[in-house]
Amino acid sequence: MRIIKPGDILPSDITPRETYLNRRQFMAGIAALAAAPAFAASAPAAHGPKLPGTKPGRFSTNEARTPFESVAGYNNFYEFGTGKSDPAENAHTLKTRPWTVAVEGEVKRARIHDIDEMLRLAPLEERIYRLRCVEGWSMVIPWVGFPLAELIRRAEPTGNAKFVEFVTLHDPGQMPYQRTSILDWPYVEGLRIDEANHPLTLLAVGLYGEVLPGQNGAPVRLVVPWKYGFKSAKSIVKIRFVEKAPNTAWMRAAPDEYGFFSNVNPRVDHPRWSQARERRIGEFFKRETLMFNGYAEQVAHLYRGMDLRKFF
Ligand code: MTE
Repeated sequence: MRIIKPGDILPSDITPRETYLNRRQFMAGIAALAAAPAFAASAPAAHGPKLPGTKPGRFSTNEARTPFESVAGYNNFYEFGTGKSDPAENAHTLKTRPWTVAVEGEVKRARIHDIDEMLRLAPLEERIYRLRCVEGWSMVIPWVGFPLAELIRRAEPTGNAKFVEFVTLHDPGQMPYQRTSILDWPYVEGLRIDEANHPLTLLAVGLYGEVLPGQNGAPVRLVVPWKYGFKSAKSIVKIRFVEKAPNTAWMRAAPDEYGFFSNVNPRVDHPRWSQARERRIGEFFKRETLMFNGYAEQVAHLYRGMDLRKFF
């Protein structure tokens, strides 16, 4: 996403990987590109066990799904490296059992959920959502999960719970890049309570009908489809209900570039690039980016009266 510490030069700051790949692909010819596999890790990503009993859920798009190999092979998960194929190559060190998720803060029923018990909190649904990364690429992913609202309802937030904070595991033994200072660990993200309660917001535990691969944020991650991908925190161990907006990892790293809301908004440029268009992974030509990533009908009312240039 960006340079974090002066002197830390990421390959993406020299030539964005996508640009570099596309230049090569262009030279190889458009016909060859159409036949070539989409962006993927050097070795094909492994499939997880099937998740039984998954039912089709609401809000799914009927757009073509991005192939599994790209969804599980082209990732951002800085705990496992900054290259797009690093997470698929390195996430085998992540141990997803035993795993607990603490629900705490401004709630009447604080508790620590064991992940297997959490999987039974609500029926698992398949939701096919668009994911739009702030870097300008997008995918269509068949997630498996349940609405975060189900967990919130059971926690019984108090009147002081205005925001929800999501915290990723902090264990440099399992997440090797936490030994570096590319981000201020652990990864933290946040939503306003009405965003967290919105029926589109998912706690995902799988994709393509299978247990979530480590590189996609196993064993449980957030999916907020109308916001840039970085709002969807991976490998969550803590969900905290708070009164003030959390200071998220990307806001701490670059407050001028990443605001709290981070709604997909083609009219608000990133300070260093336009957000008007995006490249769907596997496609050659760019397409227009839609307001709220195409979910305006469902979520625009949450921001009525707000200046979305100021609250970017
Ligand atoms: N969560 C953690 N803990 N660490 C990360 O680096 N990257 C974010 C988000 N969640 C990230 C994270 C970014 S920038 C994106 S675009 C999405 O995860 C990518 O999700 P995917 O790799 O499953 O497509």
